[in-house]
Amino acid sequence: MEEIFEAIKIASKEIKEVILLGDTAKSENENSTGDTQLKLDIASDIIIEKVFKRIPSIKEIVSEEQESIVSLNEDGEYLIAYDPLDGSSLVDVNLSVGSIYGIYKDNFSAKNIVASVYVVFGPRVEMVIAYENKVQLFRLSNDEFKYVKDIKLNDAGNLNATGSTQMNWTQTHKTLVNEMFKDGYYLRYSGGMVPDLHQILLKGGGLFSYPGTADKPKGKLRQLFEVFPFAFTYKCAGGDAIDGSKSIFEVETTHIHDTTPCFFGSLSEINRVLKVYSNNG
Ligand code: AHG
Ligand code: MN
Ligand code: MN
Repeated sequence: MEEIFEAIKIASKEIKEVILLGDTAKSENENSTGDTQLKLDIASDIIIEKVFKRIPSIKEIVSEEQESIVSLNEDGEYLIAYDPLDGSSLVDVNLSVGSIYGIYKDNFSAKNIVASVYVVFGPRVEMVIAYENKVQLFRLSNDEFKYVKDIKLNDAGNLNATGSTQMNWTQTHKTLVNEMFKDGYYLRYSGGMVPDLHQILLKGGGLFSYPGTADKPKGKLRQLFEVFPFAFTYKCAGGDAIDGSKSIFEVETTHIHDTTPCFFGSLSEINRVLKVYSNNG
């Protein structure tokens, strides 16, 4: 596992350079979810695939930016699903973006995730590793990722970040959000799930949600590349993640690019979601 974390560090230093100097234009291609890929998405994807190809313990990899699974080593132990550059359209306006990695065993499913990593490219480059029930923060300094601290969520926080457009929210979701603001929660939403979830983790708690909506009942965020890795991070930090009615770890994956509604938070906010969603159907 350590060699995978080291590979992600190497890739992240290269991706940082691509973000600093790369072309933010759109490419001619669409990914499997139908998004037009940016040249930055493709460049980051190539960097990550290159570093993972050198590691014997990796059996298969799959990228949000690619159609199918790539087999690397028949005898490898780990399967990695990754989103090379989440929120890439925000580079254009100089907001923070990130990479997300889910490390699985046996097959790509929520119950088989064993570690997760994300990297935030903001004013600073930070990396958060969740493994063996610990969540640790590292920061890039003098070309090295240095350990900063362990991360734990409080039982409750005061931040609220919720995706999609209000126009398409269900009545249940509107009720949830209104009640939270009435109770004093602060709106914090940049449109990049990596910095948005990072903020909630480091400020002690709150709720990030990307619900099922009228236009997209299964939400927007992808299970393997985005939702399961962050669910794992939040769980290891003492919080939790649900799809509105059940644990994210019970969500079944039928296709590698499947999406799911998702809610990540500290325990008090997750209980609130369960209460509101079960009362309002
Ligand atoms: P990606 O850049 O990989 O396509 O996904 C961005 C994601 C996520 O970071 C963010 O939370 C969400 O899309 C924002 O979607 P909305 O603009 O619909 O809120
Ligand atoms: Mn993404
Ligand atoms: Mn992406």
